Amino acid sequence: MAMVGTREDARADARPVAALDVERVRADFPILSRTVRGKPLVYLDNAATTQKPRAVIDTLRRYYEDGNANIHRGVHLLSQTATEQYERARRGVQRLLNAPHLHEVIFTRGTTEAVNLVAASFGRRFVGQGDEIVLTEMEHHSNIVPWQMLCEQVGARIRVAPIDDRGALRMDAFEALLNERTRLVSVVHVSNALGTVNSIGRICELAHAAGAKVMVDGAQAAPHLRPDVRALGCDFYALSGHKLFGPTGIGALWGREELLDQMPPWQGGGDMIEQVSFERTTYNTLPAKFEAGTPHIAGAIGLGAAIDYVESIGYPAIAAHEQDLIDYATAAIGDVPGVRITGTAPGKASVLSFVMESVHPHDIGTILDSEGVAVRTGHHCCQPLMRRLGVPATARASFALYNTRVEVDAFIRALGKVREVMG
Ligand code: ALA
Repeated sequence: MAMVGTREDARADARPVAALDVERVRADFPILSRTVRGKPLVYLDNAATTQKPRAVIDTLRRYYEDGNANIHRGVHLLSQTATEQYERARRGVQRLLNAPHLHEVIFTRGTTEAVNLVAASFGRRFVGQGDEIVLTEMEHHSNIVPWQMLCEQVGARIRVAPIDDRGALRMDAFEALLNERTRLVSVVHVSNALGTVNSIGRICELAHAAGAKVMVDGAQAAPHLRPDVRALGCDFYALSGHKLFGPTGIGALWGREELLDQMPPWQGGGDMIEQVSFERTTYNTLPAKFEAGTPHIAGAIGLGAAIDYVESIGYPAIAAHEQDLIDYATAAIGDVPGVRITGTAPGKASVLSFVMESVHPHDIGTILDSEGVAVRTGHHCCQPLMRRLGVPATARASFALYNTRVEVDAFIRALGKVREVMG
């Protein structure tokens, strides 16, 4: 049986999958028609941030032009309307995640802040001296450093599950790390640097059997496959708006009600309180308990519009389109002399990381840029992973629903130019 949350599952969900009309999709993204250095823009840096459809841009403009007000605080019409839109966006996140309860969805600045929230709050309540947090070798810094900070404070320690040479998690080694001291497993759903799709369902089964909770970093997954938290069986799930065709500075954390209820607030301020006196403060209920201060109202509303947009295309069509692109690009890059792909785990999502013999990734990025092709080069905020791969950095092309085979051809031609220039 296909596992929920994998590419296979996304495809199996809705057969037959209506082909995505990529030219119609491209027309929704104004930036895609611009040129860069005199060449048509070929934007293959979607894992760093995605471009925004007109629906999101118009929603943001309309909010500021016609609806700007603070939320949860005013009896006036604008405040009420802004509140309704903000809470409608929360319902969008709930729908996207198939979350059981609306009040389990907390708006954050992004995945990074969501992990920090759980580390600070779950950590304070549930993690103590001698306890263990299990991570994997493929984690982004934002899913490493908050746990290190927690471990320093409480005397806990981090255990790291290794990956194999293809970039797949070694499930046997992961399982062997779990024990009665494991309080939490925090793992990426889709690796931003490799494209590896982790078997979250199995990870949750194993972790839960050991009595641990599971947090999932879904930043790189949400644009590509439906992050159904009920089917995955995790305890926390985080996503970032800007990787999901929404604004920067907004994201969401979903957590199980019974855990969130037991966790202390992590930031104090307006909206998260019930009663305040100098002697004692009582706290608001979920989700306000975790949303201190005026939030990124426009960002949340923009994220809601982005979710509507993704849903209007549908994950099965997105997954099928991206699979075609990654297969096509993987075959084509094989013809470029001296290229080695880093990350070949079966069923991986639309990330193509690679190194080129005797060429530094930054030189690849610069020459590609001169051809109008945008990729990311560097350690991708995964320095421990780079060490495991034995490289200082990689070049990374990452695909989204609006990319085309013609763009892949332009990318491969530009790589040929790199080879020519660098020898
Ligand atoms: N984490 C983002 C990336 O992979 C920024 O590029």
